[in-house]
Amino acid sequence: MAQPLRIAIAGLGTVGAGTLRVLEEHAELLAARAGAPLTVTAVSAKNKTKDRGVSLDGFTWFDDPVAMAREAEADVIVELIGGEDGPAKAVCEAALAAGRHVVTANKALMAVNGAALADAAERADRALNFEAAVAGGIPIVKALREGLAANAITRVYGILNGTCNYILTEMREQRRSFDDVLDEAQKLGYAEAEPSMDVDGIDAGQKLALLASLAFGSRINFDGVYTEGIRRISLLDIDYAEELGYRIKLLGSARRTEYGLEQRVYPCMVDQRFPIAHVEGADNAVVAIGDFVGDTMFQGQGAGAGPTASAVVADIIDIAREHRAPTLGIAASGLEALPEAPIGKHVGPYYVRLMVSDRPGVIADVTAVFRDEAVSIESMIQRARSETEAVPVVLNMHECEEAAMQRALSRIATLDSVVEEPTMIRIESLA
Ligand SMILES: NC(=O)c1ccc[n+]([C@@H]2O[C@H](COP(=O)([O-])OP(=O)(O)OC[C@H]3O[C@@H](n4cnc5c(N)ncnc54)[C@H](OP(=O)(O)O)[C@@H]3O)[C@@H](O)[C@H]2O)c1
Repeated sequence: MAQPLRIAIAGLGTVGAGTLRVLEEHAELLAARAGAPLTVTAVSAKNKTKDRGVSLDGFTWFDDPVAMAREAEADVIVELIGGEDGPAKAVCEAALAAGRHVVTANKALMAVNGAALADAAERADRALNFEAAVAGGIPIVKALREGLAANAITRVYGILNGTCNYILTEMREQRRSFDDVLDEAQKLGYAEAEPSMDVDGIDAGQKLALLASLAFGSRINFDGVYTEGIRRISLLDIDYAEELGYRIKLLGSARRTEYGLEQRVYPCMVDQRFPIAHVEGADNAVVAIGDFVGDTMFQGQGAGAGPTASAVVADIIDIAREHRAPTLGIAASGLEALPEAPIGKHVGPYYVRLMVSDRPGVIADVTAVFRDEAVSIESMIQRARSETEAVPVVLNMHECEEAAMQRALSRIATLDSVVEEPTMIRIESLA
């Protein structure tokens, strides 16, 4: 057996402690698979005395993770601190500059600084592996980079945030409001006290930017991801979605279009005939469509100590095997800077819900606006009647350009009989 692969780990939180546990519990199995023992030599975190449920005996402790990246007796530095810059970025840069391989689970860092780091890794002739940064335990980075390498990828989309999927599932199954489910998820520790990264779609956007780069050979462009979160999704819309044969999911989706690279994260109506509509709870799922292979779908846990550590350790094994693929699928210098496809050019059918005062002429006013914008209505549901309260009118709209839909909705919002901001949810075409 070859010399041990020496590993230093920066960050011993959920993922760091989980990684130590996998390396310890599966030492024999991993050595056999890697062709060499995987040996942790050094670790770093903020608090040396914190109980992490794993033994740190025999590891050299560093208070400063950047010093560890430079000085530890290690072939691989594993960055599990988090954050788009700060110590996480400094650790990766120092490690590559010192000629060490890097493994990271950090989507924020990769979404913002991934292209520069991939370039640095190439220049240093070292690996920069980030499987755990996208959809946790699902090996989608490897799938796009290697297993699907024969294909031109036509589209990649998926459920990329487990917290949002959990909230939407709970709302539908338990008939609870968004605020109620979020509140409970925070109390149980499933959602952060500051939930914006999850519920506003930012976390999913970071992962999508990485998937898009891998799929299309484009430079990572996180700023170019159009993002809407799930705060505005109501139980009423979830019920109407079911009735119409859809399920509401927060999807991230990327593809090349005639206008440039489309990268979008938004809640949308997914036809229940597609398997992804049935990915429930905290699971993630990614569909990658290749021109030769067709549709492929990957589903599993996108977060948590075990699934994330599983991906981190797989990246370490690749390094021990001396198996190296370009970080983003092609040489960093060859990544293309693609223009962003504007959301106004999106074309698709829409679900629109209006809350209106129930009086004569309301529907005529609404349909006149849609007629002016050349947007046509496929069907309409207006069931409830009330002389005192606003009632919902649900419109299923034929395919149209988003810019026209937005113009129509801003005019409809000004009608006297429309008492709330209109709700618009895109009906996602997945065929
Ligand atoms: N948690 C998940 O399910 C998951 C899933 C996929 C990807 N990730 C990614 O994995 C990374 C780690 O996430 P996590 O959930 O494990 O985070 P976490 O539990 O908050 O752990 C962060 C660790 O970094 C250490 N740390 C913070 N600042 C440091 C500094 N200046 N110097 C040295 N150590 C420092 C902390 O030390 P102390 O423990 O002493 O405070 C802690 O051990 C993030 O990039 C995250 O996005 C996480």
